[in-house]
This record gives sequence, C-alpha cells and structure tokens, in this order.
Amino acid sequence: MFAKVRSAAVTGLQASLVSVEVDITNGLPAMHIVGLPDAMVQESKERVRAAIRNAGASFPMKRVAVNLAPADIRKEGPSYDLPIAVAILAATGQVQLDRDDRLYLGELSFEGDVRPTNGVLPMVALARAEGIEEVIVPSANAAEAALVPGVRVLPADHLVAIIAHLAGGAPIAPLEPRDPLLLEDDVDESVVDFAEIKGQEHVKRALEVAASGGHNVLMTGPPGSGKTLLARALPGILPPLTLDEALEVTTIHSVAGLVRPDRPLIRRRPFRAPHHTTSYAALVGGGRKPGPGEMSLANRGVLFLDELPEFPGNALEAMRQPLEDKVITISRVQGSVEYPANVMLVAAQNPCPCVGKYHSAESSRPGTCHHRPAARRPGAERRRPAEGPPLPQPLARARPTTPRLPCPLWRDAVGDRPGDRRGRRLDGGAVGERRERPRGAPTGTPD
Ligand SMILES: Nc1ncnc2c1ncn2[C@@H]1O[C@H](COP(=O)(O)OP(=O)(O)OP(=O)(O)O)[C@@H](O)[C@H]1O
Ligand SMILES: [Mg+2]
Repeated sequence: MFAKVRSAAVTGLQASLVSVEVDITNGLPAMHIVGLPDAMVQESKERVRAAIRNAGASFPMKRVAVNLAPADIRKEGPSYDLPIAVAILAATGQVQLDRDDRLYLGELSFEGDVRPTNGVLPMVALARAEGIEEVIVPSANAAEAALVPGVRVLPADHLVAIIAHLAGGAPIAPLEPRDPLLLEDDVDESVVDFAEIKGQEHVKRALEVAASGGHNVLMTGPPGSGKTLLARALPGILPPLTLDEALEVTTIHSVAGLVRPDRPLIRRRPFRAPHHTTSYAALVGGGRKPGPGEMSLANRGVLFLDELPEFPGNALEAMRQPLEDKVITISRVQGSVEYPANVMLVAAQNPCPCVGKYHSAESSRPGTCHHRPAARRPGAERRRPAEGPPLPQPLARARPTTPRLPCPLWRDAVGDRPGDRRGRRLDGGAVGERRERPRGAPTGTPD
C-alpha cells in the first residue's frame, strides 16, 4: 500500500518542495522515517499515531515506512506531521486523494488539532511558482498563505475536518483572497509619535536627514535627555513599505514564526531594540538551524542599540560586515543560508558611565560630567562611550540636551505641536515644512 502527498521545506528563506511517500507492508508494527529528518521530524511518529487514533481513524498495525524526498535536503520542524498523517490515511484507504497537486503543511497535536507552523509564506510562494494551486494549511497561517496570489487556501483546524473534506462529506471552505494592500494596517505600540517630543529640534532634524538617506545615527547625551524616546519615534517618519518590501519583511518574520494571524502582512517598518545582553548569534542570526537574528528582523526598518558601549565587542564586530553588505550569510556544515540585513542602525550612549551624576553638586555645570577619563572607576574602559569606530562611522551624530521637564514656560514658548508628524513622512517631501520655532524658544543646542 502506497501513497504520496506534497509538502515543503524551508532553509533560511529558501523553500523547496518535498514529497512525502508512505509505504505500508506486512511486518512487525513500526514506523520509520527516512530522508534526512532531524529529531523533531522523528518525534512526529508519536504525534501522527496519536492524532490519527484521536481523529477516529485507525493507525495500521503494520510496518509503516515514510520517505521525505529529495533525501539530500535536511527536513526540520514539525510541519510534516499533517502530510505524513494524510499519506498514511490514503495508503490505508481511509481517505481518497482527490488531487495530486495540493500542498499540506501543519503540525498535529495528540488530539488531532492542526497547529501553526513557521515559514508558510515562502513555502506557499514556492508551491505556486511550481504550479501548485491548492494548499491545506493551519487556520492560524491561512491569512499568511493567502498573501500569495493565485492559490486556493483551505484553512484546517483539525484532522477530522481534513478527513471529512477528502471524503467529500464536508468540504473545507477556501479562504477568500484579499488584496494585500487593502489589509488593515498594523499598529506598532512601541513606536512613539514624533509630535510628542518637545524641543530637541536639532536632533529631530538630524533624524529626519538620516531617515531620508537611510544613514546610521549615533546619539550621545546625558541620562533622561530623550535618546530612547527619539529613537522610538524614528519609524513613525519613515515611508511605508512598498508591497515587495512588505512581502520580504513578512517572509523573514514568517520563518521566525512572528507573523500574527490577524496581521498577516507586515506593512510598517520594523523597529527592533535588542537588549545589550543579547548574544551575538541572536543579533546577527544563527543557532543549530540558522534562524534570522535581530538584524534581519529589523530589515528595511530600524535596529536600535540602546546603551551602545554596553554591547560586547564581539557582538558589534559581528555586525560590522552585515551592516556594510546589507546581507548576512550564516554557514554550517550542511550548507549556508542568507538573510537580508538592510537596516538603519540607531545607537544611543551616555557620554560617561557615571550614570546619575550629571546634576550632582560635584558637576561644574548642569548636564556635564565631573569625571575626567583617568578618574573613571576600574573596568570603565569597556563601558566608556564608543569613541572609536566599532561600527561603520555614523553619518549623523546627534547630542540631545538635558530636557527641563516639566516646564510650563517651555510649553508656552514652543506650544503643543498640533498634528501628527507621521503625516509628514519623508515620502511626501514634506519634511521641510517644519513649523517655525517661535522667537525666544529654547533651541536645544548641543551641550
Ligand atoms: N524632548 C522630550 N519630550 C518629551 N518627553 C521627553 C523628552 N525628553 C525626555 N522625555 C521623557 O523623559 C523620560 C526619559 O527619556 P529617555 O528614556 O528617552 O532618556 P534617555 O536619554 O534614553 O535616558 P538614559 O540615558 O537614562 O537611557 C522619558 O519618559 C521621556 O518620555
Ligand atoms: Mg535610554
């Protein structure tokens, strides 16, 4: 008894079609999977056996051999559970495969629920390019799969529903195709509105210039001067992603399993702010199965390194080449993967590690530090502000000054900025229309 169904594998961002072949012969009851499966694929034996039984079908008490072809591509992850289960059901005659050119993707729970899986977008896109017109994917990934034009997407919740569909009793309704550009815009709560920032006109100007040219920015300023706030406001003035850029960003997030079912297309420029304790593998990408790092997740958007001098040297060194090449190549014995890393790097640092001393009595003037480099505490060398060029030299350097908030006079002088600066994104060339600063208002000059 033999059956074959189509599935797909994804390595890096590259997908490839996989045939799941099942051969059932007389012999001691056992299940073997061949075709370069990793440990997670081997574990699917237990999931598939339990899911088939709990879906009301019977698992054959025979020798079941599963082949994942082609055998030279490493098969990773749990997305082969569903195609293996369907192939076993077809080989035992419990369902009839109505068409050969259908792609099956999905993880199964012991109960038979179809769970979401990573990398659905690149796999479905490849399937379409190879002439496959129908896919059965987990419901949570259905909207993501429907971004690929010309594909009939059948969302599956449970193995029982798929058995009923294949038996012809209760066909699964395909997802209505929607124009990706008409999908709801996603709102990133971590992005601050530029209009909320008082003063700091020189820094805002520097950020606007940097944003229009995609230059890197280094902000140096005392604690509380608004460096983090300014960086978080930056994505709001960047132009929206084009459809091609949005699909590229969504593909990377799909491989990382970060696409939300209710927001299948990522249309806002990403903003990633990894903590300085983040390992360098997590920054540039890596792991046993090389996944995208923070640099790739921030592709086409902003990568914000707050407290830059706290980042370990090897992490900054590892980022240097991808920042110049705008692409990261991660090599392993089994092969290499490539992720885009076209980011705008924004870094922030304090002028001295003596955090909190800026307004102390020892300080000669507010907003300055009384420390001379020689007086810094032991170990401060590693933490001193990044003076050398650990990264490609930023084109824009901005020095936020210490804000004196709350200050009613300031508010009176500057006034609340009406309107949302996001409406004045750099795509419309409206940046030059900055409201004139009233005479006598604080200028926010560098300290
Ligand atoms: N220009 C400003 N307009 C409005 N709020 C501001 C401004 N500057 C600072 N703030 C507010 O002050 C607080 C501290 O700002 P922020 O954390 O950005 O400072 P920082 O320079 O990153 O400090 P640190 O060096 O300690 O990280 C935040 O709550 C921020 O909202
Ligand atoms: Mg900060």
